[in-house]
Amino acid sequence: MQLLDGKKTAEDIKSEIATEVQKIKNSGGKVPHLAAVIVGTDGASLTYVGSKVRSCQQIGFESTLVSLEDTITETALLDKIKELNADDNLDGYIVQLPLPKHIDEQKILMAIDPNKDVDGFHPANFGKMALEMETFLPATPFGIMQLLERYKVETSGKHTVVIGRSHIVGRPMSILMSRKGYPGDSTVTLTHSRTKDIEKFTKEADIIITALGVPNYLKADMVKEGVVVIDVGITRVPDASHPKGYVITGDVDFDGVSKKSSFITPVPGGVGPMTIAMLLKNTLLAREMKIA
Ligand code: GUN
Repeated sequence: MQLLDGKKTAEDIKSEIATEVQKIKNSGGKVPHLAAVIVGTDGASLTYVGSKVRSCQQIGFESTLVSLEDTITETALLDKIKELNADDNLDGYIVQLPLPKHIDEQKILMAIDPNKDVDGFHPANFGKMALEMETFLPATPFGIMQLLERYKVETSGKHTVVIGRSHIVGRPMSILMSRKGYPGDSTVTLTHSRTKDIEKFTKEADIIITALGVPNYLKADMVKEGVVVIDVGITRVPDASHPKGYVITGDVDFDGVSKKSSFITPVPGGVGPMTIAMLLKNTLLAREMKIA
């Protein structure tokens, strides 16, 4: 069994980006600038956005945090989006999800300038992804593709089973794994909450990607020998013995499943750290597209 070490791979990618930033600086260019919009004070969202901003500083990007009250109206948020779209000093930005219930998420995502949509959530970018055109790939799926590539995991002709059809992970993952080229060229089954007998699919899968949010869902008796397992789950499970009062738990029963796997991601330290690295990579791409 080989561990797909997202922590190390993300550090490698970040140092590659830092090298590019240094080159831009040396030639007198403008460094990439990423902004993150956060609405409200949700603990997990604040943690993610905080580490996005810290990573920007680490690699020499400019960064801006836009913190808004959770009582903000949809109209006021749309005005903010217009402002960010018009800001020539800004290369890319993200609106951290989820948004408060009174705001239509789809409407907000549609308002983001596709050229600044480093999350790759705008329908124009999602469409380009499906059509195999160059664009910003959503950060988590992009990170998974990078892990598969850097560890040279064989994907061509393999049966990939994706669990979960979210717009952020499962659905784009199913598209990317079926695209032409490497990594990709897989035969994909996208399973979800209405799928009958998920085990029937997982038991014969060569590659399993779980984005479910159910701690320890995937057990050893649900997979075959030699399977490749990518665990996107990051549920906070209460644990009084831990200083933070919780432990981050994946969708996969790691102890059991890892014994049968050829490759597997740990949680934490697998897919999670890759997401931020890929957001930074998209921001660098946004900067470079402006130069071109
Ligand atoms: N919430 C959970 N994952 C993400 C992500 O990748 N981007 C944004 N903007 N919000 C998220």
